[in-house]
Amino acid sequence: MSTIVVATPVIAGLGALFKSHALAKKTVVLFDEHTRKLYGASLLQTLRDEGFLYKELVVPAKEASKSFSAAYRLYGSMIEADVDRSWNLLAVGGGVVGDLGGFIAASYFRGIPIIQLPTTLLAMTDSSIGGKVAINHPLGKNLIGFFHEAELILIDPSYLATLPLREIYAGMAEVVKYGFIADEPFFTFLDLHFAEIMSLQEPFLTQAIKKSACTKADVVKKDFRETGGLRATLNFGHTFAHGLEKLAEYRYLRHGEAVTIGMVCALFLSHNLGYLDQPSLERGLALLQKFRFPKGLVKRRFLDIDSALLLDAMLSDKKKLDKKLRFVLLKKLGKAFLLEENVEESIVLQSINDGQKFFNGKSAH
Ligand SMILES: NC(=O)c1ccc[n+]([C@@H]2O[C@H](COP(=O)([O-])OP(=O)(O)OC[C@H]3O[C@@H](n4cnc5c(N)ncnc54)[C@H](O)[C@@H]3O)[C@@H](O)[C@H]2O)c1
Ligand SMILES: [Zn+2]
Repeated sequence: MSTIVVATPVIAGLGALFKSHALAKKTVVLFDEHTRKLYGASLLQTLRDEGFLYKELVVPAKEASKSFSAAYRLYGSMIEADVDRSWNLLAVGGGVVGDLGGFIAASYFRGIPIIQLPTTLLAMTDSSIGGKVAINHPLGKNLIGFFHEAELILIDPSYLATLPLREIYAGMAEVVKYGFIADEPFFTFLDLHFAEIMSLQEPFLTQAIKKSACTKADVVKKDFRETGGLRATLNFGHTFAHGLEKLAEYRYLRHGEAVTIGMVCALFLSHNLGYLDQPSLERGLALLQKFRFPKGLVKRRFLDIDSALLLDAMLSDKKKLDKKLRFVLLKKLGKAFLLEENVEESIVLQSINDGQKFFNGKSAH
């Protein structure tokens, strides 16, 4: 189990924290170009003040850094710096740095400890927690990886002050997801305080992050290797989202944007299959209505797409393995489940169409 620390500044007393977790003060610090520029100087100063030995590594701030070639280059720098099994790796950044850093830590010298210092809302509430670390393969995202849980997850909400608004919305999608799948009071809290959280107001921001991180950690604790169906509920909205991301070539839609649209479709699907009642559907949609997207994005990446094409994209990586689409549905707000049986294509298509009408501002419901 990882230890999650939420504090500002979270790096104060880092030496003592490492010591109490039996972590050596010998650390490879991985940044992307943005987090290096924004937070590198102060973090590295802290490491010097606290008597750490460190090796700094920087990767370009893009999804393409989650690649084998990037990992291979970084292994080389670590070998040259005499980094051995007694070291650990501190990943300072969003999900890209966290996933890449975790992948390197899981494999280098047969595994060294990873410490996550997430700097995006998505990483603070989702990707840094749960131990799934991966790089991409040209044939698919996140295909090569490990389960390698972080020793420590160090969350400092004040890092979000520099995060672009678009990225805050993207992270907020996963936060709202936890309300939908696990906790009705949290759903209500998010609905009430959406604007405060989006403008990073305390104590709402920290409350939302803590609750999200704990929800994810709790689900992961109960179903680490995703065998019981519980961890799969974290994929609420994601079956649709993955299709949308694929159609957007993994470039033009942020993951959280695809998840926001995907959750709208998943709410309709839950309703169309008779699991979710009308008032709950409407409450769910009202919360998702608060999300904002760059101008024209939803039109280009969702409304202009034929629902059959989206269904094809959702199915594309499943067909080869003769797998069925798996949907996470809601019974009510705060209660999700993984539907085991096959869903008729016409109902999936209908739910996509309902989602499109919703974003067009003329919901049929
Ligand atoms: N391992 C998991 O369980 C899991 C879960 C969800 C997503 N992911 C992965 O996470 C990745 C997406 O993560 P992300 O959304 O954090 O994207 P990201 O890491 O690309 O970060 C988004 C952008 O924000 C910048 N940034 C980061 N922190 C900043 C800060 N404090 N101020 C200003 N700019 C900052 C980054 O440099 C980058 O340009 C994807 O690769 C996805 O596959 C993994
Ligand atoms: Zn997600």
